[in-house]
Amino acid sequence: MARISERLRVSRKIGAIAESATLAVDAKAKALKAAGEHVVSFGAGEPDFPTPSHIVEAAVEACRDPASHKYTPAAGLPELRAAIAAKTARDSDYACEASHVLVTNGGKQAVFNTFQVLLDPGDEVLLPAPYWTTYPEAVALADGVTVEVPTTAEMGFRASVEQLEAARTDRTKALLFVSPSNPTGAVYPREEVEAIGRWADEHELWVITDEIYEHLTFGEHVFTSMPGVVPEIVGNCVVVNGVAKTYAMTGWRVGWMIGPADIVIAASNLQSHSTSNVANVSQRAALAAVSGDLEAVGQMRAAFERRGRTMYEMLSAIPGVSCLEPQGAFYCFPSFAGVLGREIAGRKVTTSLELCEVLLDEAKVAIVPGEAFGAPGYARLSFALSDDDLVDGCERLAELLA
Ligand SMILES: Cc1ncc(COP(=O)(O)O)c(C=O)c1O
Repeated sequence: MARISERLRVSRKIGAIAESATLAVDAKAKALKAAGEHVVSFGAGEPDFPTPSHIVEAAVEACRDPASHKYTPAAGLPELRAAIAAKTARDSDYACEASHVLVTNGGKQAVFNTFQVLLDPGDEVLLPAPYWTTYPEAVALADGVTVEVPTTAEMGFRASVEQLEAARTDRTKALLFVSPSNPTGAVYPREEVEAIGRWADEHELWVITDEIYEHLTFGEHVFTSMPGVVPEIVGNCVVVNGVAKTYAMTGWRVGWMIGPADIVIAASNLQSHSTSNVANVSQRAALAAVSGDLEAVGQMRAAFERRGRTMYEMLSAIPGVSCLEPQGAFYCFPSFAGVLGREIAGRKVTTSLELCEVLLDEAKVAIVPGEAFGAPGYARLSFALSDDDLVDGCERLAELLA
C-alpha cells in the first residue's frame, strides 16, 4: 500500500471537523445496548414514534410505481416543491413560490448548502450560543467565521438585538436564528422575532432561520416565522425546514431550504454536483406529510409536552442541577454546575464532558455534554423517548448524583 505521510492524508479543512457529538453519544449508547446493557439514551434528537401510517402508505405506493425508481430534478419533485410552498404559507404566513424551494437531504443539507452559497472566506456569521452542534461546522466548511453570541439561562437562552448589534462588524454577513431552539428548548416571543428581523434588515444581513421545530411548542409559547412577521427580509432570508421532527421522519432524509431565486438556483447547482435529488420515494412520502393535516403532529406534540414537564420536574429536584422548563422542541438543557467539582462514583468530575462519561459508564444513561453546543457546564437531554424510559433514566441520574 502506498504510504502517505500523516500530514497529507486528510485535508486540513475536513481534518478539523469534529464528529457530531449528538450522533456519537447515540452511537455509543446503541453499541452498549447491542452488547446487552440496559441503556437509557437521552442522546438523539429523534422522535420515538413511527412515521404516521398514511405517509408510509404513500411511500409503499411510490415503491410500486416505476416512475419513482428514476431521478427527479435535483431541486426536487415539482409537486413537492409546490406543496412545501403551500404549507409554508399555511404555517408561517409566508407566501413563497415553488421555484423558491429546494428539496434537500434533510435540514442538515439545507444548512450546508446555504452557507456554501452565501459565504466567502472570512465572512462572519452571528450564532447565538448555546447552538446546535452542526452550525459552526457548516460555517467552517464554507470558510466562514462563526461569531458566538453567548446567552444564559437567566436570559431564557435568547439573544437580544443589543447583543447582536455589539457582535456585528463590517465582515458580518449573516445571522443564524433558530426558534424553537435545539439544544435549549427556548422559543422567542413574536416581538423579539420582529425586532431581530428588523435589525437584520436595517443592516442588510442575511438571516438563516431554522424552523424545523415549528410545530413543537408548549403552553403559551408559540412559533413565529421571521419572514412571516418581517416581510421586508424575504429577499435576504433563507428558511431551513424538514419533515424529520414534525412527522417523526428522521430516517427518510427530506428537508428543504426556501430563499430568493438566485440563492435557490445556486444551491440547486451545487446540489446537482453533490447529491442530486433526494431519494424519489422519500420525496413522495414527504409530499403526503406536508400536504396532509396536522392531527398526528398534534398527538406527538402533546406527548412531548407531557414528557418535557416530567423531565423538567425530575431534573429540577436533583440538588446541584438547575433547569429551565422547555418551551419547545424536545430538549431539556440543565446546568450541572452545582455538581461539578465533586467526586461521583469514585471519580473526580470537573467538566460536563467528564460527567457525561461517568453517567454512561456508571448509570448507563446517555446525555450530550454542553461542550458540543458551546455551553460547558450544561448538558442536553432529549425527551423524545418513552415515558417509562424517561422516568427510569432520570431516576438513575438522580441516584448517581445523590
Ligand atoms: C435545529 C436543527 N436543525 C436542523 C436539523 C436537521 O435535521 P434533519 O437533517 O434530520 O432534517 C436538526 C436535527 O437535529 C436540528 O436539531
